[in-house]
Amino acid sequence: MRHLMSPLDFSVDELEKLFDLANDIEKNREKYSHACNGKKLATCFYEPSTRTRLSFESAMLSLGGSVLGFSDANSSSAAKGESVSDTIRMISCYADICAMRHPKEGAPMVASTHSRIPVINAGDGGHQHPTQTLTDLLTIRSLKGRLNNFTIGLCGDLKFGRTVHSLINALSRYDNITFIFVSPEELRIPEYITDNLKEQNIPYKEVISLEEVMPELDLLYMTRVQRERFFNEEDYVRLKDFYILNKEKMSLAKPDMLVLHPLPRVNEISVEVDDDERAVYFKQVQYGVYVRMALILTLLEIDVNSL
Ligand code: CP
Repeated sequence: MRHLMSPLDFSVDELEKLFDLANDIEKNREKYSHACNGKKLATCFYEPSTRTRLSFESAMLSLGGSVLGFSDANSSSAAKGESVSDTIRMISCYADICAMRHPKEGAPMVASTHSRIPVINAGDGGHQHPTQTLTDLLTIRSLKGRLNNFTIGLCGDLKFGRTVHSLINALSRYDNITFIFVSPEELRIPEYITDNLKEQNIPYKEVISLEEVMPELDLLYMTRVQRERFFNEEDYVRLKDFYILNKEKMSLAKPDMLVLHPLPRVNEISVEVDDDERAVYFKQVQYGVYVRMALILTLLEIDVNSL
């Protein structure tokens, strides 16, 4: 039995297979529509979500399975003090696979060690968000045809943004990737991540100005400032509009640069950018469903060749 805690839990070869499967699902939805008949997915979300929870549910329903779960810790027995390890023992009796989001870093990992079913980390605090990373990688691979030879800018809240941390981890395994970290001083990328990059001789630079680096980028990954992880509201208000991507800044970019965003967007991408063909953050959402379908099939060890 396998769990998914980090994007590194799959080898690069295994990711290739997963993405091939996701692309096949995209082309042949009907072929997979009964692949999970009789199977149940539990979504245990101790933190708010729109995309991750609903895309998991949509993925399982599209595979012919069923879904159950909770979307708020206060509507579960966590409100009465039940531990994550006890909760997953219950969920193991009710479902075949579980996607869990938790504000505490490492909580899905703790759950996985007490689980009889595969557990998927659907976001743990400021730590990792592996299925968002699978979504990001599938989007890039599908639209660009490769996952190597890119200069990628990651912009916004690089301190608390778990999607950024997961994506850097994952892209570090591909050839000729250069990272450009664009953030205010207070929201710089954590040192343990830049230390890792140094150890692997992966080139990166840190800058404050987005305009300055726009012409260099093949990919721009925008993120929102993570209000829920700030200790005080004043700091959040001061930093929340530090970057706003608009048409003027897009005019500095390469004609084929892609703009990604894990969403939700708050104010960091002006709606005027949505019509730009380089803005692919809504396409990304659709890829998120295909890749979660592929992930469910893989972790449940469904024989897709017999479909
Ligand atoms: N991208 C993402 O994790 O969105 P949600 O918080 O809505 O799930």
